[in-house]
Amino acid sequence: MEIGLSSPILESEFNRAKELKAFDDTKTGVKGLVDTGILKVPKIFIRPLNELGHNSDSNLNHFQIPIIDLHGYADDKHQRQEIVDGILSASQNWGFFQVVNHGVPTSLMEGMTKAVHRFNEQDDLKKELYSRDRARRVRFHSNVDLYISKTANWRDSLIFNMLGPDPLHPQELPIVFRDITIEYTKHVKNLGDILFELLSEGLGLKPDFLKQMKCAEPCNVVCNYYPPCPEPELTFGSPLHTDPVFLTILLQENIAGLQVLHQDSWVDVNPIPGAFVVNIGDLLQIISNDTLKSVKHRVLVNHMTPRVSVACFLTTLYNATNPFGPIKELITKDKHPIYRDVLMKDYSSYYASQGVDGKSALDYFKL
Ligand code: OGA
Ligand code: NI
Repeated sequence: MEIGLSSPILESEFNRAKELKAFDDTKTGVKGLVDTGILKVPKIFIRPLNELGHNSDSNLNHFQIPIIDLHGYADDKHQRQEIVDGILSASQNWGFFQVVNHGVPTSLMEGMTKAVHRFNEQDDLKKELYSRDRARRVRFHSNVDLYISKTANWRDSLIFNMLGPDPLHPQELPIVFRDITIEYTKHVKNLGDILFELLSEGLGLKPDFLKQMKCAEPCNVVCNYYPPCPEPELTFGSPLHTDPVFLTILLQENIAGLQVLHQDSWVDVNPIPGAFVVNIGDLLQIISNDTLKSVKHRVLVNHMTPRVSVACFLTTLYNATNPFGPIKELITKDKHPIYRDVLMKDYSSYYASQGVDGKSALDYFKL
């Protein structure tokens, strides 16, 4: 069928599809566009006015997301209890916290962000790894939902599907980030195990409960690159969303951009050098029967500096045959299950069908 260009709506849709394809075909992402010296944000990235509201409703509050100091968690019973209480309260009230004294060497964290910068400066390697095929366990692309969402985001992503029952072979990682990625992931996975222990205790469960549930079986590492933007008020690095995983451990560079929705205001997650940002994902909200909260967040871009973040998503296998639902031990006479049991595959396809556009997928799985 020929597209009738006489209709203004069809014409604009046609142009948009053409523009998306042309952008995708460059295989160099948003940074590639910026490198051509553009002074305006291309139309495919411009959000409708009602979705923007960057400055009017943010930064005018005194909130700060909780900071958890993990020092002493392993060998001081009293301190461990304080840490457990702090993590539980942060996860209930904010869904977000930052951790310090977590045991991951600062040099490794710096090495990882440097490697991501280095990668994004190599167009040939970007083109070689550019793919939307999920079967490729090391891939680069811009906008996971490019052809589904209404507006594209100012962000490029390098993705590794790292651990799990069938670990990624080191040879599959390009040499520019091979050693650092393997070392970094090992440490962050270990931190994930510690956090799952503390969260289990906070929920009144045995320390290894969440680990036994295989909450961190695979770990997907997404290295985000947010290039500087000529008109940052017109677009987002990431629009509001929740994470479709159990837990996210995020390393952010010393540049602001991430914001969390708290009591109807956007609160900046101020970077603390050497800290990780941790947030509860949808799956942990489901299995904790709404005790732990998966909270909406977004990323703003800026005029001046590229920003790198490395998100380690702790999740479960896409084709896991065990459904997950509210933990039986947390269900009492007064606390009925809020969600039905769901297979990861069904949850993921529902989340993906919504596009990353800010609606929570959780409601769909409520009883
Ligand atoms: C994400 C995310 C925040 C950031 O990747 O889900 O929220 O600062 N990232 O990059
Ligand atoms: Ni997120």
